Order: sequence, then C-alpha cells, then structure tokens
Amino acid sequence: TKPLKVALLGAGVVGSQVARILVQESDTLESRIGRRLELVGVGVRNLDTPRPGIDPALITDDLEGLVNRGDLDVVIELIGGIEPARGLVLKAIENGASIVTANKAMLADDLGSLSRAAVDKGVDLYYEAAVAGAIPIIRPLRESLVGDEIAEVMGIVNGTTNFILDKMVTDEVSFEEALREAQELGYAEADPTADIEGHDAAAKAAILAGLAFHTEVRSAEVFCEGITDVTPADIAAAEQMGCTIKLLAIAKLTDDDRIIVKVHPAMVANKHPLASVSGAYNAIFVNSREAGELMFLGQGAGGNPTASAVMGDVVTVARNRARGTASHLSSGYTRRAVAPIGES
Ligand code: HSE
Repeated sequence: TKPLKVALLGAGVVGSQVARILVQESDTLESRIGRRLELVGVGVRNLDTPRPGIDPALITDDLEGLVNRGDLDVVIELIGGIEPARGLVLKAIENGASIVTANKAMLADDLGSLSRAAVDKGVDLYYEAAVAGAIPIIRPLRESLVGDEIAEVMGIVNGTTNFILDKMVTDEVSFEEALREAQELGYAEADPTADIEGHDAAAKAAILAGLAFHTEVRSAEVFCEGITDVTPADIAAAEQMGCTIKLLAIAKLTDDDRIIVKVHPAMVANKHPLASVSGAYNAIFVNSREAGELMFLGQGAGGNPTASAVMGDVVTVARNRARGTASHLSSGYTRRAVAPIGES
C-alpha cells in the first residue's frame, strides 16, 4: 500500500519537533497506523532560517502551492495566527485533506465554519494541541464526556503567565526577567503580548467553552484581563492571606442557561490544587453532572509537549484515513447565549 502524504505548515518551536518525530519515529508510527507516513513538504515563511534536521528539499515558502497539490492526506498547520492559516486550512479541506492544527487563535475566531467545512467534506479536523499543550483536554470534552452535562470548566491554560507568576513568587525575580526566561524556554507566543494580556488564555477558554457547552464561542466574547497589572505587592499580599495569584480561565453555565467565559488573575487558596501548579504546567478542572469533578494536569507549553499532542492527532486522523473514514465529531450544536462581557 502507498504511504499517506503529510504536509507540515510551520517549522517553529512546535513544528520543528513534529518534523523530527515524523522522520525519526517513522517505523513506530507506521506500526501504530498500519500505513507509512510520508512527509512531502514543509511550508515556512522565511527560507533563510536554518532548519536543522529537516531535509532542505522538502522546504518551501509556497504554502498555497503546497496545500494545492491535491494529493495530501494530512495537513498539519502550525503557523499560528488567523490569516493566512485559516485560508490555507480551508483550501486544504476543500482539496480533501484531513487537518491537524494547534492554532487556537484561528479556532477561537471561527471554529464553527472550519468544523462545518470539514464535516461537509468528510475529513477530520483535530486540534488537541491548541489548548494546554500536552494535556489531553479536547478529546475528553469532545468524546469522553459528550454523554454527560458539563457545568463548569476552570483552570490555568497559559504556561507563560503561570511560569512568570510562579517565578515572581519563588525566585522573587522581576516580571521582565521571568518573561525573558519563558521566551527562551519556548513557552511564549511569537508576540508575548498575547500571553501576558490574557488573549492566548481567552482563545483557549473560548474553545473549551464551545466544546463543553456544545455551541460556538469566540475570543471576542470572552472577558479578558491579563497579568500586566499584577505587582510584587499584590503577590506579597496574597501570600499573607494564604493565597497564590493565578491567571484563571473560567467557563460556566448560568441558571438561565447562558454561558459565562472569562480570564483574569485570581486569588487561589493555597490548599486548592490549582495553587501549587508550577512552572509552565497547566491544570484544568471539569465539573460535570454525572462524572463529578475531573482534573487534568501536565505541561501546557513548549515544543516537545505540544508536539506530543500534535502527533497523537496525526496518528488518529491517519488511522481514519487509512480506513477511508473520518470521525465526524462536530455536529449537534445547540445555540446558547454568551453572557455580556463583565457579567459574572
Ligand atoms: N504561549 C502559550 C503558553 C503556548 O504559554 O501557554 C501554549 O499554547
């Protein structure tokens, strides 16, 4: 049988690890999928950046041309940002490829129409890596808990800000120094404003809320306050009260069936498990009617952890592809109103 053809868009912190795993682990991946994966192209913005470990013959800056090949089975989109990523993903779907993406900004802007495009075409759209890096949280909400009724999803979903707040407490370093370290470790977004202003967490909150409550929620509907106004004095005051300041993302249903979605710094009592989540770790609580409380914990940022989530999706969609099928996970929306920003 012929190999499944895979194209990778983006070879940054996460993409370079995905490219490495695709090549280094090709035999293992084949044994798990039942078909070989062939990396046929790596689309990048800047041809001059050195890409050690990637066959130069595969690298192109013609991303449009790559998704228009017409023979792709899987497109892995790791360029981030809304455009041109969204246009490329829609083109790839139109051309019959299944999609694996880690692009929270794109999904939080318009998951609805991307999902509908994938369902209409009979291809997969998987995005485990878009929220909380290595932690499986999309599949639990989309599949494992889909027979239950979720009341609340709450947690720490941005590694950079958790790393910064943690460092400010434990090492008493300045905000700037902690941010620099987070960037060096590959946790931060290309523009760290998205992390520290809370927009990255807000995008993830929108995706989680949409899945938890079977509706469409966009970033713009999420109340969002970042950590730029958190001072060492705030941190000391929280400590005195037996609390730790954490940037929380919260999505819950109101009594009248509306959704509240918000991101803001919060005082978390030290005895609460979220208080001790350290470094770039993320943690997410889910409270559902039948299952009760669940907690998901792990590395929420960084190239290798995020690549793990991407590869899980790649194997899943490739298995479907090898059987000529797709998961069809995205139908059955009930419209629910998102409460106005600021209401809680
Ligand atoms: N910048 C993000 C974070 C990366 O710090 O959590 C993972 O989405």
